[in-house]
Amino acid sequence: MEKLEMLYEGKAKKVFKTDKKDEYIIEYKDDATAFNGKKKDTISNKGVVNNKMTSIIFGMLEEKGVPTHFIKMLDDTHQLVKAVEIVPVEVIIRNVAAGSICKNLGLEEGMELDPTVFEFCYKEDKYDDPLINDYHVLAMGLATKEEIETIKDYTFKINELLKEFFMKSNLKLIDFKIEFGRYNGQIVLADEISPDTCRLWDKDTNRKMDKDRFRRDLGDVEETYKEVLDRISK
Ligand code: C5P
Repeated sequence: MEKLEMLYEGKAKKVFKTDKKDEYIIEYKDDATAFNGKKKDTISNKGVVNNKMTSIIFGMLEEKGVPTHFIKMLDDTHQLVKAVEIVPVEVIIRNVAAGSICKNLGLEEGMELDPTVFEFCYKEDKYDDPLINDYHVLAMGLATKEEIETIKDYTFKINELLKEFFMKSNLKLIDFKIEFGRYNGQIVLADEISPDTCRLWDKDTNRKMDKDRFRRDLGDVEETYKEVLDRISK
């Protein structure tokens, strides 16, 4: 598999064309950003951890019937994926209140959310990825009604599978962000699932085991990412 020219560079990953039209290579970087790029640094080995963790989780989700863009891990920082067209919405699930829902709605961090909260955000840095609803998604032509239904069905299924998966490693899944793509007209899970995109708290101590350690300068960022990988790899 040949890595050809770069198609896109995001905050945490680069996407490359390959010699096959329908396959891309993703490179996971150590660069870390928060608050839409206002806080920047590098986290040693983050690329390796996020690549390995995403590979394990996408493999598990595929086995459980969720279609994804993932084909295989190529090396420590590279993945071969299907060449999807990304749907420009960020899909967020919140099982417990944390982060922006606390800031925007005055909820106390740690409050159990019943029912689980589903959110769409418009994926556009220029506008700071604003919260939108189904009507915006339709009116802006970001996805069709059928695609929205499929995205919702997959997202709630992914939440159930991930909660169970992380609980085996003594981790509580607080919230997460996922993205979907279109491949041969079908909606498939794309992007990544890692401590950059999920909030994970230790089940016994509620220790934050995710990117909030970087966002809030809590320390031990690199060690914590590695610990999450070690726990889920067992
Ligand atoms: O910041 P907020 O509370 O809205 O984030 C909810 C979840 O989505 C968190 O797990 C966060 O890591 C993730 N997220 C992300 N990328 C973004 C925004 C949020 O991975 N651009």
